[in-house]
Amino acid sequence: MAIRLIRQNGDEILRKKAREVEKFDDKLRELADDMIETMHKNNGVGLAAQQVGILKRIVVIDIYDGKGPIVLVNPVITKKKGEHEVEEGCLSFPNQFAVLIRPKEIEAEYYDLDGKKKKIKAKDLLAQAICHETEHLDGILFIDNMLPGTLEVVTPE
Ligand code: NI
Repeated sequence: MAIRLIRQNGDEILRKKAREVEKFDDKLRELADDMIETMHKNNGVGLAAQQVGILKRIVVIDIYDGKGPIVLVNPVITKKKGEHEVEEGCLSFPNQFAVLIRPKEIEAEYYDLDGKKKKIKAKDLLAQAICHETEHLDGILFIDNMLPGTLEVVTPE
């Protein structure tokens, strides 16, 4: 396992569309392990492969609810229900936060690291994280959909 460098806002790879994963091999597993370690090291709740410079459709999420990190390969959101305003940040935008409208609940399909198709139902923070990370895979960033004027820069202590 290794900590990988997180690409920052302005890096053009963040605007590219990632490719579907077709090979579920040890290399993919190693990438997922590194992404989880990198996310944890930076106290993030999610990380997309683009953010470590890899154009593959894989994201990792951990909302620290005791259930451990999850890895979603080729995720697709199939249902969205409800709406609410949430505050959101991104590891590629350190110390920056904005308000967005996100669905309250979602359903998504994805593959696990063994290439097995799975479904997930999520609400609140987990739903938000799946939306945020899945958008990364299409080059969409949270600032694209923020409510105007809500971007805040927090000075670290
Ligand atoms: Ni992000």
